[in-house]
Formats: sequence, C-alpha cells, structure tokens
Amino acid sequence: MIRLAVFASGNGSNFQALAEAASEGQLQAQIALLFCDQPAAFALQRAEAFKIPTLTLSPKDFATKQLFETQLIKELAAANIDLIILAGYMRIIGPTMLAAYPNKIINIHPALLPAFPGAHGIEDAFAAGVSETGVTIHYVDSGVDTGPIIAQQAVSIAAEDTLETLATKIHQVEHELYPKTVQLLIEKLEKGRR
Ligand code: GRF
Repeated sequence: MIRLAVFASGNGSNFQALAEAASEGQLQAQIALLFCDQPAAFALQRAEAFKIPTLTLSPKDFATKQLFETQLIKELAAANIDLIILAGYMRIIGPTMLAAYPNKIINIHPALLPAFPGAHGIEDAFAAGVSETGVTIHYVDSGVDTGPIIAQQAVSIAAEDTLETLATKIHQVEHELYPKTVQLLIEKLEKGRR
C-alpha cells in the first residue's frame, strides 16, 4: 500500500478528511505520518485520535532551511513515505525537498489557480468581488501555488455570501475533492509500479 505523509501547520480539517477517507476505505493508502512545523497545531490532536504517528520539527531549531529539510527527508525515508500531501502547510517547500520527492508533493489551494495564489486565497477572491472561486489541487514546484494542476472544482459566490459562508463552502468542497483526487493519483502510481 502507498504510504502518505500529510503536512499541516494548523487546524488540520483536510488532514481529518483524508484520515476519515482512509479509515473508511475510500482512500486506499496508509497515512503513515502527520508532519507539523508547529508544535501547537490542532492537527496533531486529530492525528492522535486516529492513532496516526506524528512528527514535529521547528525550522527555527535549524541553522538553515536546507538542514531542516535534510532532517525531515531522513525521517520521511525512515517511514518509507511515497507521497507527500500538503494540507494547510504554511511553508514554502525548498529545493532540497523538491529534489528528494520530484512530482511526489501535492498541495490544495482554496481558489481557482492561477487566480488568487498565496496565503489568503478565500479572502482575496471575496474581496475582489468575483462571482466564482473554488479549489485547486496541484503538484508543488518551486513557486508559490504555481505547479501543474491536477484537479479543480468551482464554487460560486452568491450575493448573500459572507466571507464566513464562502469559507464554509470552500472547505466542504476541499474535504471531498482532496481524498478523491489523492485516490486517483494513487491508482495511477500503483499502475505504474506493476
Ligand atoms: C485550506 O483551506 C487549504 O486549502 C489551505 O489551507 C487551509 C487549511 O485548512 N492550503 P485545514 O488546516 O486543513 O483545516
């Protein structure tokens, strides 16, 4: 079975959706690790509830990003991780990690890329007054939210929507689209292995 590491920095609701899909069999992979760069992330408590092993490393404990990523790669290799799923991981993946996991790092972004990249995709779309935004799942490259797109789903913004109702709609779509898309990717990876 493909072994996944999920990376999160905060709440971890997407991690939760992936863990639920895995435990219900819709996602046929083992979530072998939750990695957090924030020791206080709520995602860590969610992982405990699923009995999923966790790892926390604080970049500030390392002299350089390269050293931080080198240590992280060692731990991922020890856990035999095949694929890395970013889920609210608020840190740019550096060249060391990208070289170690080429085309094996996936991210979810709460907007229809290339529109509204960056850390505030939902707020930026709402403030722009567009009638449609959405969710994008993409491969991670060296840019910010620029890698090849794997899947997208639109979410309409109604006149009566507030930032809060929009955020709720976006997260609902995320929680369905991410497990589904990761499952499709895994099926492709497994075909390639046979
Ligand atoms: C999600 O909206 C995701 O698209 C973005 O960060 C948010 C993380 O939420 N990258 P959560 O931590 O999964 O609840």
